[in-house]
Amino acid sequence: MPKPSQLYLPRMRTSDYLLILAFLPLLSTAQNLDICNSRPKDLLLEPRCVYRSPDPEESDEPTPEPRPVNPRVWELSKANSRFALSLYKQMALSRTPENNIFMSPLSISTAFAMTKLGACNRTLEQIMKVFEFHTIKEKTSDMIHFFFAKLNCRLYRKKDKTTLLVSANRLFGDKSLYFNETYQNISETVYGAKLMPLNFKSNPEAARITINDWISNKTENRIRDTLPSGALDSNTALVLVNTIYFKGQWKNKFPKENLVASNFYIDESRTCQANMMYQEIKFNYKNLPDEKVQLLEMPYRGEDITMVLILPSRGHPLSQVEAQLDQNKLNSWLDQMRETSVSVSMPRFRVEDSFSLKEKLQQMGLTDLFNADKASLPGILEDGSESLFISDAYHKAFLEVNEEGSEAAASTAVVAVGRSLNLNREFFEADHPFLVIIRESTLNTLLFIGRVSNPCEQ
Ligand SMILES: *[C@@H]1O[C@H](CO)[C@@H](O)[C@H](O)[C@H]1NC(C)=O
Ligand SMILES: *[C@@H]1O[C@H](CO)[C@@H](O)[C@H](O)[C@H]1NC(C)=O
Ligand SMILES: *[C@@H]1O[C@H](CO)[C@@H](O)[C@H](O)[C@H]1NC(C)=O
Ligand SMILES: *[C@@H]1O[C@H](CO)[C@@H](O)[C@H](O)[C@H]1NC(C)=O
Repeated sequence: MPKPSQLYLPRMRTSDYLLILAFLPLLSTAQNLDICNSRPKDLLLEPRCVYRSPDPEESDEPTPEPRPVNPRVWELSKANSRFALSLYKQMALSRTPENNIFMSPLSISTAFAMTKLGACNRTLEQIMKVFEFHTIKEKTSDMIHFFFAKLNCRLYRKKDKTTLLVSANRLFGDKSLYFNETYQNISETVYGAKLMPLNFKSNPEAARITINDWISNKTENRIRDTLPSGALDSNTALVLVNTIYFKGQWKNKFPKENLVASNFYIDESRTCQANMMYQEIKFNYKNLPDEKVQLLEMPYRGEDITMVLILPSRGHPLSQVEAQLDQNKLNSWLDQMRETSVSVSMPRFRVEDSFSLKEKLQQMGLTDLFNADKASLPGILEDGSESLFISDAYHKAFLEVNEEGSEAAASTAVVAVGRSLNLNREFFEADHPFLVIIRESTLNTLLFIGRVSNPCEQ
């Protein structure tokens, strides 16, 4: 079922520091309880530098007390989704259509938010803009970390005994360097990311293995070897890691006996044999013939987390749907879904993906951070040194979808809705490439996004 992802970034400069930020999606449920119940003024969250939006909007609003959804948390979630779709489109352009894609944009945003803590000047401004944090209606950027903490409190609280969504963050720093205490404090309070000292100088290979093992441990061994060999060297200063791990059981499992091997149409000329799962039941669904897409939302147990499939009409290329997708369109599609009896046919599949983010983020405007001469990250080291920069960022993600999700017992066994009686039944047959999103539905936070173009390679 689920997957995790991760990435990491390094950097280096004339003064011979290399900073590697490893990001894996992961947030910790074990976050200090206080952050979830605290108000901004209870916390000293003052990053080194603050970005002020040049066009401050509207008047001051008092920071709301904890309510079902803090409006700023809602805005952060929207900002993350905007970034997610831009990055996804960037990825889609860089791959040929028959290649699968899978990633956790939330993990990437989290890792870079941690980096932002130490950033100043244009480096800070670019992070704010590329990750859409500047769209949050707050006068200054320092509050973003507080909203991230609140968002994490909502996302990673326990939903249901059988549904797991966990995230972990960690900083791995060279033990010969001194890291700014305030930076460490905020990082730990907000992101649960403690600093672990490692000896990059004399044994970068051992440090790489330690980090990869940590990531593997936090992702139930689904994500291994995040940092490729050679990714770290004796100039490495810091690696930031975020991991996210999700595992859920369908609220409505697909009956095993319905599994059939059948054609999946990769494109006009090629098919492959996929294991197609089948069930008929009520799901959130919408057919949008004018937009040439069908949408289907399948909940996991606990109901807050769902998988959304976006399936182009037969003959309409997925690439055209991707090219037009933006947040407004996606949200309007999602809002139109209604509970409907649907016959669902979709492949069992497994997708693994890993890539470097550097080039994609540079194309999106995040340039200074990766530039040894221009990066400004004075908030990270104790001496305020500006010598750090990010050499790269790696992301790795995994998704496996099958009939049950996992082996837990209390299945909401599939209730096949009266087979032939229901004349209004709709058909959703995912036998050609589709988009897949795993989201938290109450906040509409996109946890994972990808496309399945070829489900047959398992
Ligand atoms: C550490 O960073 C904080 C801002 O986050 C800054 O005020 C402080 O001066 C820094 N500490 C040192 C020793 O530079
Ligand atoms: C920001 O940039 C200015 C010049 O553009 C420089 O003087 C200053 O030191 C920089 N501040 C930080 C914290 O990097
Ligand atoms: C960091 O946190 C510790 C423990 O909460 C506190 O004693 C220390 O003063 C803090 N340091 C800074 C620089 O904020
Ligand atoms: C991760 O490490 C903990 C503590 O060492 C251990 O209990 C747990 O089984 C490990 N998990 C995995 C998936 O290896």
